[in-house]
Amino acid sequence: MISIFLILGSLVSTLAGASTEYQAINCRKHSAVLTDFGGVGDGKTSNTKAFKAAIAELSQYAADGGAQLIVPPGRWLTGSFNLSSHFTLFLHKDAVLLASQDEAEWPAFPPLPSYGVGRDEHAGRFSSLIFGTHLTDVVVTGNNGTIDGQGAVWWDKFHQKKLKLTRPYLIEFLYSDQVQISNLTLINSPSWNVHPTYCSNVLIQWLTILAPVDSPNTDGINPDSSSNVRIEDSFVVSGDDCIAVKSGWDEYGIKFGRPTQHLVIRRFSCISPDSAAIALGSEMSGGIQDVRAEDITALSTQSGVRIKTAVGRGAYVKDIFVRRMILKTMKYAFWMTGSYGSHPDTGYDPKALPEIKGISYKDIVAENVTYSARLEGIENDPFTGICISNVNISLTQKPKELQWNCTDIQGVSSKVTPQPCAALPEKSIECPFPEDRLPIEDVKLQTCSASS
Ligand SMILES: *[C@@H]1O[C@H](CO)[C@@H](O)[C@H](O)[C@H]1NC(C)=O
Ligand SMILES: *[C@@H]1O[C@H](CO)[C@@H](O)[C@H](O)[C@H]1NC(C)=O
Ligand SMILES: *[C@@H]1O[C@H](CO)[C@@H](O)[C@H](O)[C@H]1NC(C)=O
Ligand SMILES: *[C@@H]1O[C@H](CO)[C@@H](O)[C@H](O)[C@H]1NC(C)=O
Ligand SMILES: *[C@@H]1O[C@H](CO)[C@@H](O)[C@H](O)[C@H]1NC(C)=O
Ligand SMILES: *[C@@H]1O[C@H](CO)[C@@H](O)[C@H](O)[C@H]1NC(C)=O
Repeated sequence: MISIFLILGSLVSTLAGASTEYQAINCRKHSAVLTDFGGVGDGKTSNTKAFKAAIAELSQYAADGGAQLIVPPGRWLTGSFNLSSHFTLFLHKDAVLLASQDEAEWPAFPPLPSYGVGRDEHAGRFSSLIFGTHLTDVVVTGNNGTIDGQGAVWWDKFHQKKLKLTRPYLIEFLYSDQVQISNLTLINSPSWNVHPTYCSNVLIQWLTILAPVDSPNTDGINPDSSSNVRIEDSFVVSGDDCIAVKSGWDEYGIKFGRPTQHLVIRRFSCISPDSAAIALGSEMSGGIQDVRAEDITALSTQSGVRIKTAVGRGAYVKDIFVRRMILKTMKYAFWMTGSYGSHPDTGYDPKALPEIKGISYKDIVAENVTYSARLEGIENDPFTGICISNVNISLTQKPKELQWNCTDIQGVSSKVTPQPCAALPEKSIECPFPEDRLPIEDVKLQTCSASS
């Protein structure tokens, strides 16, 4: 008897249309499906107009409980579109957003004020696929639906120097508060994948981000001049840094003056043979402060946490705390670079020296490492307060002869093998990691429902 009721029950819910529960910072009172606005999921028809019409309509509910737009199973070709406030975009698990390869589908924007120029091409940038500016309470989620950037044509244009503007990113929010990006698979982005910029209270979780390891600048997640950001339970395979923490470029970033701070990264995995699991920089001219990274795994990755900076950047990278990393098959376990170069133009100030201090690494196991540490500060501007404790590094069959190469740095070490350089003398200490919680760690999620 009971089993018959169970079968009937599941049949009824199937007939009523699949209802999926998901976790979000806010649920929405109103709900609609992309097909209500003329969407066609055949992989060929452009849905840019359908998305614009849907969001224009649903944005009217911002003050009345908000709205969600559900993207049902199908292959939905689209150009760039903008989200609105108190809004959720939900991708069904069998929904694939296909980014258009037609440049006419991508509006042109001026460069970001904190960068001064576009990164690929100075003239400006293409809008990101999913974009929003000055929003409050916006969610992009799904049950692991896919966003396919179809980046190959953009990578070719980049290599052949045929770009007129900087390549688009997949998801970008500017000047927004309360942002959630979760439970999605992002593949083959034209360039960076996820780029919260000038934002606060950003929650990024359960993302799978995949791109060929030789694709250009396919950074995974780049928090940029943003505060109170939490990135967790995500996996990135890419051709560039898995996470790159940024805050603007040389004189433009110094003038804009907006740091990335209060950033939590945890339970994060990375594969990136030519880049870092977590890079701090290279654009850090608004400052980077209070980063807490823990339970990080990197396989076949060039370096673990890398600081990249240069004369002309100004600002600071300080109060960086890292614990519990597992690193396997790495060129460098530790890497800091004070001579990164890469300037937007010749207008940078050679007297603008970055201040790098208070960098703490502990409880790390690294295997099959070529070079334990290359720690290169800046002449007359040493990187200070470096602390490294409880670290076991085992070396590859052909390790570098000089395992710890330290120039213009100061700090201490404790229980580290192989033995660090003289600039990091042994002290009986444990490196610090903050005990307090950041507000973004206490965000409560609600259980919402998406039915299509
Ligand atoms: C998105 O918003 C920006 C800034 O308001 C605007 O310039 C752009 O044209 C909009 N993009 C689309 C695709 O509507
Ligand atoms: C989001 O991902 C997490 C981890 O895999 C999972 O527990 C949760 O059910 C997912 N949510 C949805 C709506 O698929
Ligand atoms: C989401 O999809 C990706 C790509 O198919 C897969 O690797 C990953 O395991 C999936 N994640 C979940 C939680 O199902
Ligand atoms: C160790 O690292 C080397 C590169 O230095 C790589 O070729 C080799 O496959 C790695 N070995 C293992 C067991 O992962
Ligand atoms: C490093 O090795 C020592 C000695 O075997 C051990 O006590 C310590 O726990 C190891 N550290 C880590 C981070 O595994
Ligand atoms: C040590 O690092 C400095 C600065 O990065 C570099 O110029 C030098 O070649 C390195 N030395 C060795 C032996 O690797």
